Amino acid sequence: MACIHTYGCQQNVADSEKIKGYLHLAGFDFTDNAEDADLILFNTCAIREHAEDRVFGNVGALKNIKRRHPSVTIALCGCMMEQKVVADRIYKSYPFVNLVFGTHAISRFPELFYNQLVNGRRIFDTCDDNAIYEDVPTLRDKQFKGWLPVMYGCDNFCSYCIVPYVRGRERSRSSEAVIAEARAMIEAGYKEITLLGQNVNSYGKGLDEDITFSELLRRIDAIEGDYILRFMTSHPKDCTHELIDTIAESKHISKHLHLPFQSGSSKILKAMNRRYTREKYLSIIDYAKSKIPDVSLTSDIIVGFPGETYEDFCETLSLIKEVEFISLFTFIYSRRPGTPAAELPDVVTEEEKGKWFTELLKTQEEIAAGRCKSMVGSTERVLVEEINEKNGLLSCRTSGNIIVEVQADDSLIGTFQNVRITEARNWILRGEVI
Ligand code: 5AD
Ligand code: SF4
Repeated sequence: MACIHTYGCQQNVADSEKIKGYLHLAGFDFTDNAEDADLILFNTCAIREHAEDRVFGNVGALKNIKRRHPSVTIALCGCMMEQKVVADRIYKSYPFVNLVFGTHAISRFPELFYNQLVNGRRIFDTCDDNAIYEDVPTLRDKQFKGWLPVMYGCDNFCSYCIVPYVRGRERSRSSEAVIAEARAMIEAGYKEITLLGQNVNSYGKGLDEDITFSELLRRIDAIEGDYILRFMTSHPKDCTHELIDTIAESKHISKHLHLPFQSGSSKILKAMNRRYTREKYLSIIDYAKSKIPDVSLTSDIIVGFPGETYEDFCETLSLIKEVEFISLFTFIYSRRPGTPAAELPDVVTEEEKGKWFTELLKTQEEIAAGRCKSMVGSTERVLVEEINEKNGLLSCRTSGNIIVEVQADDSLIGTFQNVRITEARNWILRGEVI
C-alpha cells in the first residue's frame, strides 16, 4: 500500500498521478492512512513559507510511524526538494527519511525506489537536468476529468517567485505527444481536460516544430467528442489576441480565462518583473470581454509585496472592481530566500498586510455575489463532479468555472447536464437539473 500526499498546485497533482501510475503498475494499492502504508510519499510545494512549514511539521510527525513500522519507506519529492537548503535540512535533521528526489527526477522514480528498497541506503537525487517525461504511466484521480501537462518550468523570473529555481527552464512537450494524449483521454471518456503549464502561453518555445499555444489549442479542439478543454496558467505579457480569438471561435474551450495580474499598480508590477502595466492588462481584459461576451475571469493576487503602499494596494482594489472577476486566488507576500524580492526592504507589518488582505476578500465577495446573483434564472451546461459530503448535494462546474450545487442522483457524476440556476449563495450557485 502507498500513501501519497500532494501539496501545492495542479502541476504537483499531475506529477503525483505519474508516480501513482508507476506504483499501480508495480501492484500497489493506495490508502489515505499512513499507518497502513509500505510507502509514504509527500509531494511538496515551495511557493510560500507557510506551505513549507506544513510539510516540515507533517514530515516530523512521520518519525513515530517509522519507529512503529521500521520497514516503511518514507519519500519526499517536489519543489521543496530542489532547494539545496531544504534537502540538506532533511538529510541532517530527519534521518528517518529514506528517499528524496526533485521535480526533474519523476521518470527515474521506479529506479530510485527500487535501489532504496534493495540497498537500504538513503537516496537523495535532486540534480536538475531539465527533463521532459514521456511514456510515463499516469493514474488519474478521476475517470472523467484530468490534467494534461503541455510544458514544464518557467523562464519568467517574477522577482517574488521560487518556481523558476525549482522547476527549471521552460520546455514544451511535442504537439504530437500532447495531441495523442488528449485524443486517448477523449476516447477513454474524459469529459474535461485541463492543459497545464506554469506559463502555457510560451508553449512551443524551443521546439523544432513551429507551433504556438493557440495553434495547439485549435488542433486539440478539432478532435471530435463531447468534452470541455481548459488550460492554466496564462501570463498577461504573452496573452495574445490570437489566443482570445481561439477561445471565442472554439467548440470545446471553456469560456474562462485565468489571467493572474498580481497587482493593480504599474509601479509594483515593475518591481515584480511582470513586464506588463495595469493599462496593458486592462486592454487584454477589454478585448476578451468584447470577443467572448460571457467570459468568466479569474486571477491571482499578491498583497504586501515589498515597497507596496496602501495607495498601491488601492489600485489592486480598483482593478478588481473594474474587471469583476468571478473568483480570485489571493496571497499575502511570502519572502522566498534566493529570489530577488527577498533582498528588498519590506517595511509594512504583517498585521497591516492582514488588514489589506481582509479588505480585498470583502471587496471580492461582494463582486462575486453580484455576479452570481445576475445568473439566477439562466440555464447553464455543467459537468457533474462529485457529492458535497457536507450537504449531500451534487457539485457541478459551469464552463465559466463556477460551482453549481444540485439535488440529483449520484449516477449523474461524470456527465454533462443542463441546469437552471435558482439561487445564488454568495459565490456558489444552486440549481435544478432540467
Ligand atoms: N508570495 C506570495 N504569493 C506567491 N505566489 C507565487 N510566489 C509567491 C510568493 N513568494 C502566488 C502568485 C502565483 C501563485 C501561483 O502563487 O500569485 O500566481
Ligand atoms: Fe512564478 Fe512568474 Fe513563472 Fe508564474 S510566471 S511560475 S509567478 S516566475
